[in-house]
Amino acid sequence: MKENIEKLKTEILERLGALSTNKLFYEAQKEFLGKSGKITALLRELGKASKEDRPTLGKLINELKVWAESQFALKEKEVNQAELLARYENEKLDITMPSETKEVGSLHPITHIKNEIIGIFEGLGFEVFEGPEIEDDFHNFSALNVPKDHPARDMQDTFFVGEDLVLRTQTSPGQIRVMHSKQPPIKVLVPGRVFRVEDDATHSPMFHQMEGLVVDKGLTVRDLYGVLDYLAKKLFDDETKTRLRPSFFPFTEPSVELDVTCCVCHGKGCKLCKNTGWIEVLGGGVVHPTVLKNGGIDPEVYSGIALGIGMDRIAMLKYGIPNIKLLFDNDKRLLKQFK
Ligand code: DAH
Repeated sequence: MKENIEKLKTEILERLGALSTNKLFYEAQKEFLGKSGKITALLRELGKASKEDRPTLGKLINELKVWAESQFALKEKEVNQAELLARYENEKLDITMPSETKEVGSLHPITHIKNEIIGIFEGLGFEVFEGPEIEDDFHNFSALNVPKDHPARDMQDTFFVGEDLVLRTQTSPGQIRVMHSKQPPIKVLVPGRVFRVEDDATHSPMFHQMEGLVVDKGLTVRDLYGVLDYLAKKLFDDETKTRLRPSFFPFTEPSVELDVTCCVCHGKGCKLCKNTGWIEVLGGGVVHPTVLKNGGIDPEVYSGIALGIGMDRIAMLKYGIPNIKLLFDNDKRLLKQFK
């Protein structure tokens, strides 16, 4: 039995020396020190030994057990430490590596212009209203004083989506919708996409307008001019001069167009303004009494002023964009310039 004890000692040392992982360590621990392990087995065999030998042998086995436990405890530390180091090595991060950069987007030039115009009018107490992009004939034409078969319909080549439905050709139908939902005094802006059958360097089948409408008592073309001049100076710069030219729109009487001094040559004459020094920027007028009536407002009591701005044109003028298609190509090289 004494021999067996010595053998077990050597066996334990050999096993501990050879193992390097946690898993193998716990397997060995169970094999030698477990309930049915080899040292417990020795203790059981003690019964077979002679009475005289039993105390010495018992002491030897107990010593073996204490020794083995301390050997295993030492090895456990060593193995755990080695595993930890291996994990550190595996999970090492190179914090000097360049990180993945995320590009931040930018607002579209049209959105810039839209926000800018809304910002200017907000200061004057205007609210924003948005109407549908598919309109019925009544809102897009008839209520705006453009009856069926009237030649004024030819001014705006229309996309039809049904017998009575069109892709709105202008944001002016928003005027009718606002008048039906609000009582004067009214001060609103109606921004939105509009659609017409036209396509060249300065026209796109889809473009953007901003409608403005004020309804109150005693408004005249002078009020309109005041608003338009203020808008032009804010949108371009304080040096900008403005002038009204008589024009025609079925929904306003009188109707005007606003010219501003050219933002490139400041009135001296250049290619952009075709040497006139002036650039046309928007249409407007005093709301036609029939339009007020169609909006449910008494033209004997109230009057209105209205304006319509092509936002794409303003963006092209302000940012020097030569072709309207550039606005809708979604080319990042252009969009990046508007961060
Ligand atoms: N709706 C017109 C167009 O698309 C623009 C316009 C002109 C709107 C005069 C107005 C206005 O409100 O008063 O050409």
